[in-house]
Amino acid sequence: MNMMKDILCVALISVSLFAAEVIQLPAPQLNEGTTLAEAIQNRKTDRDFSNRELPPQILSNLLWAANGINRPETGKRTVPAAIAKYAIRLYVLTAKGTYLHDYQKNTLTLVNEKDLRAYAEFRGTMGPAAGAVILMVADMDTFQQGTPAGRPAIPKDKSTLWIGYESGSIGQDIYLYCASAGLNAVCCASFNEEALTTALDLHGSVRPIMDVIVGYPPEK
Ligand SMILES: Cc1cc2nc3c(=O)[nH]c(=O)nc-3n(C[C@H](O)[C@H](O)[C@H](O)COP(=O)(O)O)c2cc1C
Repeated sequence: MNMMKDILCVALISVSLFAAEVIQLPAPQLNEGTTLAEAIQNRKTDRDFSNRELPPQILSNLLWAANGINRPETGKRTVPAAIAKYAIRLYVLTAKGTYLHDYQKNTLTLVNEKDLRAYAEFRGTMGPAAGAVILMVADMDTFQQGTPAGRPAIPKDKSTLWIGYESGSIGQDIYLYCASAGLNAVCCASFNEEALTTALDLHGSVRPIMDVIVGYPPEK
């Protein structure tokens, strides 16, 4: 009887997890995985996935590695960002909906209940085959919206490079986390920008930059 109760409880928790408007992720686990050297050794693009859902703990670890706060006293993050402006925000695309990650609260806020994973790459097949897609979105005018006093204005082409550098750092952290946790990953620049822009209701200079498709390796 007690076992039945436990099973029911676990089932309810997993159903409600992705039905909620705001999901509180567990604190990231910082003591798991391989060494850094092993993760670098094993980092690779692997386009074969099982579509098993990524559990909240794995999402939390992954999002912390990608863009979390690693120095609470300054609020600075796991990746470098030009003038510490942090131009990039992360969306999590799953079978059950699309979420915006809040790096401060470590929550996922439901943006819509659409499965947008097919837009993550031009063939449209890899995203739906995987557990989740981490989509990086940036305001391309971040550096035009004010710079520290005494600093010359930043030209647009420089801003683009800087945002590219930040997205590359996020992508590499995701790749390294995946290598360390036994997940497969592929970063994609060839995605359906128009469909994602419309579905996420992005406007003006706010654009999707890059995504990383993440999932468990195929079951043998
Ligand atoms: C900027 C950038 C864009 C990429 N875009 C795609 C893509 O759209 N689709 C894809 O399958 N792989 C994409 N990749 C992954 C590369 O194909 C992959 O990194 C490359 O083949 C080297 O393999 P490795 O990552 O295993 O070292 C991209 C990589 C980078 C750095």
